[in-house]
Amino acid sequence: MARKLFIAGNWKMNLSVETATALAAELAARVSADSSVDIALCPPFVYIAAVRRALDGSVIATGAQDVYHESQGAFTGQISPGMLLDIGCEYVIIGHSERRHTITPPEDDCIINRKLLAALGSGLKVILCVGETLDQRQQDQTESVLDKQLTDGLANLASPSAATLVIAYEPVWAIGTGQTATTAQAQEAHAFIRSRLAELLNPDVASAVRIQYGGSVKPDNALDLLSQPDVDGALVGGASLKAADFLAIIDAGRTITSSAQ
Ligand code: PGA
Repeated sequence: MARKLFIAGNWKMNLSVETATALAAELAARVSADSSVDIALCPPFVYIAAVRRALDGSVIATGAQDVYHESQGAFTGQISPGMLLDIGCEYVIIGHSERRHTITPPEDDCIINRKLLAALGSGLKVILCVGETLDQRQQDQTESVLDKQLTDGLANLASPSAATLVIAYEPVWAIGTGQTATTAQAQEAHAFIRSRLAELLNPDVASAVRIQYGGSVKPDNALDLLSQPDVDGALVGGASLKAADFLAIIDAGRTITSSAQ
C-alpha cells in the first residue's frame, strides 16, 4: 500500500507570535496547493490560532505538541483535545522524548496512553513518539524499548480508531544533536515498529500507519532517510524553524513521491 509521506515541523518552545505567523505565512505562500505530501506545523499552544489563520487557504495543517486527557474541568493550565479541535488543530504530538526524558516530572507510558486514547477518541490525529536513548541502544535494548513504548502506549486502542495514527521513531540520541540515525538504523527500527503494529493492532492497520523518522532531519539527509521503504515522513525540530530548510525537506519528500509514480 502506498503511504502518503507526512512532513511535520515541531517548533518546540520557540518563536514569538510575530515570527511564528511570519514563518507560517512564508511556508503557506511557497507550498503549492497540490502538495503530494502531507504537511503540518506544530507551534507552541499559544500561537496555534494565529498560525492557523496565517495558513488559511493553504494545504498545511496545524498540530499541537501535547494535550491533556480530560475533556474539561478543574485542571489548571491544561489543554483538552476539544479545545485543540476548536481552534482548527488536526494533529497532536504525544509522548515526545523531551516530555519522556527532559521535562519534569517525566511522562510514562501510562500517561501517554491516556492522552492518546482521549485525543484519538475526540477526533484528533495523533503522532505518537517512540525511541531509545543512547544507553539503551548501546545495551542492545532498542527493540525491547520500542516494544514497551508501543505495547503500553497503544494499550486498549481498538484497531478502527488507529486508522489516523502516526508513529514518529525518534532515537533520543539523535534529537537536536546533529547526529542522525543511519538509513539502515532508521529502516531497521521502522520495520520493527511496523511488525509490532501488525501484532498489536492488525496487519492492515500496520501497513497503513505512517511512521515518521525524527532526529536531526536536515535538507542534506532528508532524501536518503525518506527513501527507506518504511520511512513515511519526518518529524522535524530545528530545521523546521527555517523556511528554506523545511521547504527543502518537503521537496525531498516530493521528489521521492514523484519518482515512485
Ligand atoms: P530535531 O528535533 O530535528 O531538532 O532533532 C526533532 C524532534 O524532536 O521532533
